[in-house]
Amino acid sequence: MTKLSGAFLFSLVVAALAGTTWLAGTTLLEKPSQGAPDKDLFPTNSSPIAISHDDRFVWVVNPENDSVSVLEVGGDVNTKIAEITVGDEPRCVAITPNDRKVFVTNMASGTVSVIDARRRSVIDTIEVGSEPFGCAVTPDGKKLYVANFSSDDVSVIDTHSDKVKETIEDVGPKPRGLAITTDPRGREGSKVYVTHFLAQLRENGIEGLDDGKEGRVTVIDAHKNRVIDTVVLNPLADTGFKSNGRTLDPSVIFDSLDATTQRATGAFPNLLQSIVIKGDRAYLPNTASSPNGPFQFNVNVQGFLSVMDTDLDADSGQTINMNKGVQFESATTRLFITNPIAVAFKRSSNEGFVVSAATNRLVRVQLDSIGKPTINAPLVAGDPGGIVRVEVGKNPQGIVFNSVDTRAYVMNRISRDVSVVNIESASPSEITRIASASLPLPGTQDAIVLRGHELFNTGIGPAGTVPESTPPAGRMSNFGWGSCYGCHPDGLADGVTWMFPDGPRQTISMESTFAHPQPAGATLNANGAPLLPSSHQRVLNWSAVRDEVQDFELNIRAVSGGQGLITDGQAVVNLTPTANTGRSAELDTLAAYIAFGIRAPVSPLRGQDVSQGRSLFSAANCQSCHGGADWTSSRVDFTPPPGALEPIAGGQLTRFLFRVGTFDSAAFNEFKAQGTAQAAIVAANGALGFNVPSLLSVFAGAPYLHSGSGQTLEDVLENVTHRSAGTGGVDTLSSPSDRQALVRFLKSIDAQTAIFP
Ligand code: HEC
Ligand code: HEC
Repeated sequence: MTKLSGAFLFSLVVAALAGTTWLAGTTLLEKPSQGAPDKDLFPTNSSPIAISHDDRFVWVVNPENDSVSVLEVGGDVNTKIAEITVGDEPRCVAITPNDRKVFVTNMASGTVSVIDARRRSVIDTIEVGSEPFGCAVTPDGKKLYVANFSSDDVSVIDTHSDKVKETIEDVGPKPRGLAITTDPRGREGSKVYVTHFLAQLRENGIEGLDDGKEGRVTVIDAHKNRVIDTVVLNPLADTGFKSNGRTLDPSVIFDSLDATTQRATGAFPNLLQSIVIKGDRAYLPNTASSPNGPFQFNVNVQGFLSVMDTDLDADSGQTINMNKGVQFESATTRLFITNPIAVAFKRSSNEGFVVSAATNRLVRVQLDSIGKPTINAPLVAGDPGGIVRVEVGKNPQGIVFNSVDTRAYVMNRISRDVSVVNIESASPSEITRIASASLPLPGTQDAIVLRGHELFNTGIGPAGTVPESTPPAGRMSNFGWGSCYGCHPDGLADGVTWMFPDGPRQTISMESTFAHPQPAGATLNANGAPLLPSSHQRVLNWSAVRDEVQDFELNIRAVSGGQGLITDGQAVVNLTPTANTGRSAELDTLAAYIAFGIRAPVSPLRGQDVSQGRSLFSAANCQSCHGGADWTSSRVDFTPPPGALEPIAGGQLTRFLFRVGTFDSAAFNEFKAQGTAQAAIVAANGALGFNVPSLLSVFAGAPYLHSGSGQTLEDVLENVTHRSAGTGGVDTLSSPSDRQALVRFLKSIDAQTAIFP
């Protein structure tokens, strides 16, 4: 006892003496030297935008321009001073603490560019894993960690030699965002957190349930460079929104719309792009998925801020759905918090800003004394709430604050600029936007594709004429609720099995909706949209119920509750009697983006010998269905709408359906017709077979099949009917080792693999 208080007194005296020394120094701002904790060490995190430690320069990636820009921001100079060419599709930038070196991950080239910050030139290019995304320098500046999205590993780079010191294998699927803690004992970053972009099936989880999946974060010990833990980010059982039933609950598949019988809906964290440490918590803004129908726009995606405890490395139970309560705001200000993708916090207070990518807004978030976040949304109807939003550029994806908490800088992906935001006052506002990279010339095909990309990534879009689509909202969704990006990030897929009216439906990745390159002679309409059948496009959806991308006008209207882009007042239908191409120039740009703007993921097996599996593929005649320019025989070979002779049953283009033994009407998540008035609504398509999916970059597409019933490619090949479908029922793949070799080939298929003509 006496000893303890003695030590305590002693430390007080030291602290007092130390305090005196600092005050006696030449400047009050002088930093503590030896012995005292270094207040300069802050946790780091991956981001597409970074600021130098002297607050003078902002560095930002330009993913479409293959460059990084340097903006001088100190003293609000706010001018672009350089643009440096890096690799293909830069996604993340990190600066060493001494501001000498800048690292940039190039997702499509599989490299990290090293830039001398003073000379502003690339001095080295480091080969890392496949599709490097997140990057973060340890707080002491000695190491750079890189999350390789497609090879599922993490590269550790020595920032002095610019060499890969180590590769941490098997960190789990789709590593994306990174954050590194400071070690209270020394100058080494002690723990590296790696987010997994897509939610993973829970133990005993079922595809299609609102709690079927969970978010995951891998914990790496930065001293040993070993995986030491996995943090599970839990679903929320009640998002604050109710649904008129539950598709995967036979007793309540469909309720009356009576509020008292409506069911609470849950959602699981998904699209975990970033993680930011503040105190003993880490915050993960994410798009949560709530796949269990019946389908209604406000119970499919949610805007979560997930919270974990960095001492315990566990979910802290403080996760919030930022959408909750927004429905009570007045219609003139209401805007849901859609696709939260990044967050930053002040050093000196518990205030931060979440970036809502789909609504072009920052949203203020405040933490209480134990780290629980709130955006001060209204609690009940009539309560105005106190949500603070700041409008920024188009499709913001990253944010960083200066060290004195007076400015925020926001990377705007589509407008290709950086918003400078004054965050000093109680009413924060944008001061200016600094152009970061050039935009395509108006009227060019590139400009059309960019507009399509903008509409794809937004929940707003052009102003409409009904309350839910008038500014600040727009035609793309109901008060900003949804975006195509929310289920198709980067045009790819969210890995979710949605309980859609057709049945359980895995989101389809769109790198293969159109063949790349397009055939010679493919033509465009006046709006830049591909014309069929000259353009090579798949028949759409698992049940071949759509023929044109413009049919997804119906998604804008139904799935996202928007007014839609077609304004001619005529009916919009999937197949007959009218085509939708050419009815709206805006809608046509969406088709142009899907045809030309989506890149196929790069296989981690690119360049490796997979000839054995390729021969097995060919011997099994998989190419009879999965061959051709787009790795599928499915192709719209007529001019929409389908003619009178085209066979259509139950809304499906049956000529394109194949029965390969994958429809199990007894499976829990296949809809069964119910003996109620709503029976028609819940009878799944599938008995007639399925539209053949493309195998391009199929390695990235787990889980597989229309209902997500194949968690791995190995699972898919277990099905004898399917694997024998090309050989008239003769099973050439009964040997497990042959199937393994075939899986290796399947995993290698990407844009560089030779096709089966
Ligand atoms: C709630 C999640 C969700 C949203 C939001 C969403 N999609 Fe999808 N998308 C899906 C699912 C699930 C499928 C497969 C549906 C099926 O087969 O019935 C799909 C399939 C597609 C396909 C078919 C691709 C192919 O090759 O067959 C296209 C095209 C598409 N979506 C475009 C869009 C567009 C454009 C938007 C925005 C207007 C959008 N989606 C919004 C989940 C979503
Ligand atoms: C008769 C046409 C046909 C043949 C032959 C065929 N498949 Fe398929 N394949 C399909 C259909 C249809 C589906 C979708 C089934 C579903 O979702 O229920 C599919 C799905 C797949 C998938 C899942 C893709 C995804 O994105 O979910 C893979 C992988 C696959 N097939 C590989 C193969 C391989 C390998 C062979 C040869 C051994 C083969 N297929 C032969 C028609 C065929």
